[in-house]
Amino acid sequence: ITHGRAQRGPAWWRGRREALLQAAARGTPRYVYDLATLRARARALAAIDTIDRRFYALKANPHPTILRALEAEGFGFECVSSGELAHLFATLPGLEPERVLFTPSFAPRREYEEAFARGATVTVDNIEALQRWPDVFEGRGLWLRLDLGRGEGHHAKVRTGGSQAKFGLPLPRLDAFVAQARALDARIAGLHAHLGSGVELPSHWREVYAELAAHADRIGTVATIDIGGGLPVPYLPDAAPLDLEAWARGLAEVKALYPQYALAVEPGRFLVAECGVLLLHVTQVVEKDGMRRVGCDAGMNALLRPALYDAFHAIANLSRPGGDTAQGDGVLAFDVVGPVCESGDVLGRQRLLPAATSEGDVLLVADAGAYGMAMANTYNLRALPAEDVIE
Ligand code: LLP
Repeated sequence: ITHGRAQRGPAWWRGRREALLQAAARGTPRYVYDLATLRARARALAAIDTIDRRFYALKANPHPTILRALEAEGFGFECVSSGELAHLFATLPGLEPERVLFTPSFAPRREYEEAFARGATVTVDNIEALQRWPDVFEGRGLWLRLDLGRGEGHHAKVRTGGSQAKFGLPLPRLDAFVAQARALDARIAGLHAHLGSGVELPSHWREVYAELAAHADRIGTVATIDIGGGLPVPYLPDAAPLDLEAWARGLAEVKALYPQYALAVEPGRFLVAECGVLLLHVTQVVEKDGMRRVGCDAGMNALLRPALYDAFHAIANLSRPGGDTAQGDGVLAFDVVGPVCESGDVLGRQRLLPAATSEGDVLLVADAGAYGMAMANTYNLRALPAEDVIE
């Protein structure tokens, strides 16, 4: 857990119970996003003047209203597929291509071609791509994604560095990459690393920054250092938020040593996780072998993170007085489950909810704005969640 000094205020949704119940009445499962929370996170990052370029990793939540809001806050965008590029430019027709970064993994040749054709900045993370498709990269400026030899993050499945991860050029191959790029008259204009998501080590980014800058000095053509995303949010009730001031101070210390490089970041989760909640209706409450379960009208199909990563999301009962704090008398522990035919379809284990929780109540799953709707699926032929945005 990151130890931030700043205290978190109450989550936005605690003051919006009526509006959320009205939204739920229009049908669930339903994601609701709060634009004020999104803007607060965006402005906190924008206020750090050590950072020269901010790209939103839109894989976290590509909702058009969120993209428009972040465009207005001056953010650029990080895309990983043709689909994301097409969605981005369709949603933001006036977007300058210089504000778009394309950071794919094992993409087909035509996706690199498309990204160049659109004028995006393209990141490459292996030599083989240059060798197989020299005509695609010849004479281009490109960014190089490095594997700094380690992964970080909240779960093994989201750590993107080290020999077990498919991402990034390993450092021993750097000289060979530089030679290959030079042979193609391609210029390495940026150095990039993203070692994982939900990183709870506050010193991580300044270390990555310093390492990349040292490599940039050796390459000689680099203008921008991109230290990736991975900024954490406090999912657990007693977790402190990232201490953004201390984080920025660490970056500024490195910047003082390497003022010649522009600094870029590309967060997803930090911007959108806390602005989103998932609303569900209770279907059945069942006791079996001494275990109480609250069933909901969606589970791992609407929010995959608990099933996939054992991720924690706070859960509240909006329909019962006090059910959004779950304190005091009349509270019991329940497993909160979905309707999908797998035992992993659990949204939360042993959660305190009002003992009277019953069919028709509205449950809220908190901090679901990042990688929630983006990873929702139609397993068991259940419909995708609806989405609302509120000001
Ligand atoms: N840049 C690159 C190259 C990435 O691959 C990612 C995320 C980001 C930036 C943004 O990372 P963030 O700031 O959101 O941590 N589905 C997982 C997270 C997967 C992240 C994938 N890459 C989850 O729900 O925890």
